Amino acid sequence: MDVAFTVNGEARRVDAAESTSLLEALRNHLGLMGTRYGCGQEQCGCCMVLVDGQPAYACTRELGTVADRQVMTVEGLGTPAKLHPLQRAFLDEQAGQCGYCLSGILISAKALLDRNPNPSRADVIAALDKHLCRCGAHQRILRAVERAAAALRAQETMTGRPA
Ligand code: FES
Ligand code: FES
Repeated sequence: MDVAFTVNGEARRVDAAESTSLLEALRNHLGLMGTRYGCGQEQCGCCMVLVDGQPAYACTRELGTVADRQVMTVEGLGTPAKLHPLQRAFLDEQAGQCGYCLSGILISAKALLDRNPNPSRADVIAALDKHLCRCGAHQRILRAVERAAAALRAQETMTGRPA
């Protein structure tokens, strides 16, 4: 089946069985390797992407269900030359060790800040609750999300528009 959808703002097509996982389509068909495979069972969060702005587990999401939808992966956040404030904050806080969990966490953090620009610590914890970090970098990750939220609010104050 030829499935057409948008990935990080670009129209893409994948010719594969409708039941192919979105994760396999992204990694093996489109070469977007930032989204990772961990458990394959919605238990770790490292495969998280946004589908129409909502966090979704790419490991269990079937390709056929994203036809004509907007998918965002970690590659759509920023570039090395123009980091997204979340990426900047994770670097500044050194939030992570091996980094395996981070692409999924960045995606859930983006969804959180899009709907709540001023989250409490409890809000951040709730938004990231579905993510495992086996390196135990949780405290730095929480600080990084709060730092990014503050940076985005400051940017909005200066420019008068959302970052
Ligand atoms: S690989 Fe999808 S939740 Fe673990
Ligand atoms: S930084 Fe290694 S799993 Fe989170």
